[in-house]
Amino acid sequence: MRHLLDTKTLSREHALAILDIAEDMADTQSREVKKLPTLRGKTVVNLFFEDSTRTRISFEAAAKRLSADVINFAAKGSSVSKGESLQDTAQTLQAMGADAVVIRHGASGAPRTLASSGWITAGVVNAGDGTHEHPTQALLDAFTMRKRRHGAASRGNDLEGLRVTVVGDILHSRVARSNVWLLGTLGAEVTLVAPPTLVPQDVSAWPVRVLYDLDEAIAAGPDALMMLRIQLERMSAAYFPSEREYARRWGLDAGRLAALPEDTMVMHPGPMNRGLEISSDAADSPRSTVLEQVANGVSVRMAVLYLLLAGEHTNEESA
Ligand code: NCD
Repeated sequence: MRHLLDTKTLSREHALAILDIAEDMADTQSREVKKLPTLRGKTVVNLFFEDSTRTRISFEAAAKRLSADVINFAAKGSSVSKGESLQDTAQTLQAMGADAVVIRHGASGAPRTLASSGWITAGVVNAGDGTHEHPTQALLDAFTMRKRRHGAASRGNDLEGLRVTVVGDILHSRVARSNVWLLGTLGAEVTLVAPPTLVPQDVSAWPVRVLYDLDEAIAAGPDALMMLRIQLERMSAAYFPSEREYARRWGLDAGRLAALPEDTMVMHPGPMNRGLEISSDAADSPRSTVLEQVANGVSVRMAVLYLLLAGEHTNEESA
């Protein structure tokens, strides 16, 4: 694997390879000494043009546990805020000997630009680009669902027939997009639930069913209910009347939690707006996978970095 830019073009075979290697990585993470020598001598640069807590820390932990050197480059406080272009930044990283660049950027397509530019020879991992994709989030979500479903026998399994309902700000969510493609590839049945204003214009080509009523979706008894953050920072208009109204109609509160089957997984990529899209009852319930998602994120990112940096390289770009 040369780069990981999206899940839309990620094959089932590659996706399962990442998930299975992540299982091996997870096994090593329960040991007392978590560090493996695998990527000793390699340099991973975290290039973050947008704020992030868990994704950046997760990639950092993943790289360090594989013994890679990590350089964290936050665009705020760097020359980027003085107007340095992506090209100049990339060439600087290249001159420093980066073997992999993990990039988060506000512009959809920035990771692909970097990967196909010729400015760097490093492998590129998309850690979230605009409203486009966030492939490692979808992979850690799939890993989490597979683990809850199959436990120790997860390896080799896809998500055939799993009924996943994704709720909330689909319009602005790269997490939703990456999940839709990956879940489709892995055989899950995806339902989207949102106010009509937060569903993208044309989802007819997406492998999903769209509902506008959360209670109807809950009555169907999904296997997993993924709540998305309302991304106020990406909203330039009023997409719903008020936060209270949103919470009342599309929030997962105690009543709706009680209406879900006992074993429905309640997921959220974080950061959560408690009381808006998800109540604390739901976020902290035994059905919640929120902290499992965070823990699994490290294993999945270890697998991705391993495949990019330790695997045999072909020049063919995969995903
Ligand atoms: C997501 C993101 O940044 O796209 N968060 C994350 O990576 N854990 C979702 C969000 O910000 O709501």
